Amino acid sequence: MFDLERFVADCRAALKEHSPQAATKETVGRAVAHPGDVEQALGTPQEGKLVTLYHAPDLTILNLIWAPGMSIYPHDHRMWAVIGLYGGREDNVFYRRTARGLVKAGGKQLETKDTVSLGERVIHAVTNPLSQFTGAIHVYGGDFFAAPRSEFDPETFEERPYDVEKAKRLFREANERLHVQQGG
Ligand SMILES: [Fe+2]
Repeated sequence: MFDLERFVADCRAALKEHSPQAATKETVGRAVAHPGDVEQALGTPQEGKLVTLYHAPDLTILNLIWAPGMSIYPHDHRMWAVIGLYGGREDNVFYRRTARGLVKAGGKQLETKDTVSLGERVIHAVTNPLSQFTGAIHVYGGDFFAAPRSEFDPETFEERPYDVEKAKRLFREANERLHVQQGG
């Protein structure tokens, strides 16, 4: 049984551990080890969306539903993050900064029940490669919405300030495409 209130309390308790990020990864891992329970609690995905489950200056917890085939351009967080999947798949491509701009620096494919820890300097782009929804819990060790950070043009890698509204628009557009494909 996944209980959101208890999960938030466990994440808050993890912040007090010697290694908050490692403790958070354990907490998220325990949750997504029972993906059906998480889906039951958060709802079966019907559309792509970014839902704030908890938001404080030192902790943000998001429920991300990636629509089939959707991608988000490279961006950084400037705070540590832990991602856990309770359905579908998330393809992460990592980048690093060089004098010539961003270069690809590996990737990680996350499957249901997988978790990954991202350091505060990580730059990544995310794709749902499947024709079904992907459900993820993203936990950030700070205020995800207030912290200044960057996004990068997917083609030119030009850096610009991260725009939360633009990211939300990406989900709306993915849903519109989905409805067109479904004929309604
Ligand atoms: Fe991200």
